[in-house]
Amino acid sequence: MARPRRLYPDPPMAKGNQLRAVRGMNDILPGDEGLWSRFDDAVSDVMAGYGYGRVRTPILEHTGLFVRGIGEVTDIVEKEMYTFTDSLNGDSLTLRPENTAAVVRAAMEHNLTYDGPKRLWYSGPMFRHERPQKGRYRQFHQVGAEVLAAPGPEVDAELILLCQRLWDDLGLPPVRLEINCLGQSDERAAHRAALIQYFEAHADQLDADASRRLHANPLRILDTKNPAMRELVDGAPNLADYLGDASRAHFDAVQAILNSQNLPVTVNHQLVRGLDYYNLTVFEWIAPDGLTICGGGRYDPLIEMIGGKPSAGCGFAIGVERVLELMRADMAVTRGPSPDVYVVHTGSGTAALGFTAAERLRDAGLNVVLHAGGGSFKSQFKRADASGAHLAVVIGEDEAASGKLAVKHLRDRNAQQQTSGIEDLPELVSNFMNEE
Ligand code: HAM
Repeated sequence: MARPRRLYPDPPMAKGNQLRAVRGMNDILPGDEGLWSRFDDAVSDVMAGYGYGRVRTPILEHTGLFVRGIGEVTDIVEKEMYTFTDSLNGDSLTLRPENTAAVVRAAMEHNLTYDGPKRLWYSGPMFRHERPQKGRYRQFHQVGAEVLAAPGPEVDAELILLCQRLWDDLGLPPVRLEINCLGQSDERAAHRAALIQYFEAHADQLDADASRRLHANPLRILDTKNPAMRELVDGAPNLADYLGDASRAHFDAVQAILNSQNLPVTVNHQLVRGLDYYNLTVFEWIAPDGLTICGGGRYDPLIEMIGGKPSAGCGFAIGVERVLELMRADMAVTRGPSPDVYVVHTGSGTAALGFTAAERLRDAGLNVVLHAGGGSFKSQFKRADASGAHLAVVIGEDEAASGKLAVKHLRDRNAQQQTSGIEDLPELVSNFMNEE
């Protein structure tokens, strides 16, 4: 009989018959939990400190949101989106490559700004089909903040100061702030015409990407990573020369606030960012190894681009994995939290007592690992030691018969072993812990 065709064929396998994760998508294991939770805690504290409320949007959105929001001629929309057709209704859906467009959609859908500006933040996985390398993954995590319906330069500066506070709280090595002003659409249009004229006059020096972008999105040519085009790009017309008074005033005000808070700023006229929704201020934070750990800016046009009434928006997103790498270099202990107690038990009739002891200790707020899988006392003590627990509660057949459990110090070899009945165990263990 013919075998039925597999609905989901096996993915490429790297090791014999063993299935592996999708390329560029990482498992985050308990050993890194300490690092992640330190980051998450610092983020929640800083966001609360500036009055930002958390928003959680779906991981899937309609493809049109990103095509309209991020822009058709951008790397993300042209080649990095995980887009598929929902086989049940034919909708085109996309795993979110970023979250600004989705947060703006959610704010519009729920009329969040009806009573004035809103400060929002989010944290979660994003998906881009990029070539995986250090600091660049296909599933990665962002923490972002978005301020809606607040047009003034104070917000741009506040978002930047918020980032600086987070870097300080996390103890990061110095990261450099670069900012630029992209002006408004009419100013960019005049600059754009000048850019096209300039690049057309040097068409023979353009690489394939630049030739393709020349008429669709010439500003992105300035962002080239191709060293052969550096000189050409350096000589291109500068957007700063096309800015009107209001744009200049906005940019000056942002810088003045940052200066008043002693935050050093580098103005980089070539900073354009890879998404189409920006106007006025854009900024990036760059780590000592050259990787951008955070990017953002003002995106007033985005709200109209996705069908809302004209309004204002400004925000940033942090590449979490990139920040964790900086923290890791500086953090001696990256293992997950150790339990307080490891319960060792062997012999008939000891398992039930082991469960009871562990549950009583947990009732008292202690973190307890109950040994699983049997084995001799010796092998169980090895496990107890490796777990990092402070104490072992020991239950053999004698203890089970007498109802007296032994409590043994695992970190201080000179400490005396003690015994206790099950009722007094939580108190004895807590006293032991407090003596440390
Ligand atoms: P973005 O520059 O595309 O901006 O991404 C922000 C940050 O996410 C980057 O600076 C980088 O640290 C991290 N990142 C991006 N792609 C990857 C990747 N493949 N692997 C690892 N990390 C990555 C945005 O996404 C905008 N939504 C930022 C924003 C918010 N603008 C205004 N509000």
